[in-house]
Amino acid sequence: MSILKTARMGHPVLQKRARELTKEEVNSLRIQQLIKDMHETMKEYSGIGLAATQVHESLQLAIIEFSDESERYPNQGGQSFTVFINPKITVLDEALQGYWEGCLSVPELRGFVERPRKVQVDYWDETGKSQTLVAEGFLATVVQHELDHLEGILFVERLRDYKKLMFTEEFERHWAPHIKTESVLSD
Ligand code: NI
Repeated sequence: MSILKTARMGHPVLQKRARELTKEEVNSLRIQQLIKDMHETMKEYSGIGLAATQVHESLQLAIIEFSDESERYPNQGGQSFTVFINPKITVLDEALQGYWEGCLSVPELRGFVERPRKVQVDYWDETGKSQTLVAEGFLATVVQHELDHLEGILFVERLRDYKKLMFTEEFERHWAPHIKTESVLSD
């Protein structure tokens, strides 16, 4: 297993749409190893999601995992380790919900982003099997943040109010005391 180097905002790999994988590729040693390394990398940086583009691989592949018991994301339901390959997203409820987002590729920054509150994702899992996930609330935002990476979009491009983009340190000092902890996420 290896901890992979992460790409930061400005790197071209984060700005273009990633390509889809074939079934053969999904079952290849290379992709299976990449999934393991991405999982290791995500845990190393205490993330809750990671897209392949963030580790310099322009492939339609992302992972999500977070625990309901974690101190940072309490009462969000939790999501066991999930691998999304060639995901297609459908908005089921356009009503917007806002969360303070962070990103491994945009270190030290937080921004308030509003996204649809309920989505459906059709994808292949790590064995190449078709799956469907319906996500609401916190999970819906995490999923949309990750799948945006595969389209070459970072959370900062989703901001409506640039006064709500700030350094994590200032966020913790001036904003966090006044908001609900449930509204913060960092992938
Ligand atoms: Ni991210």
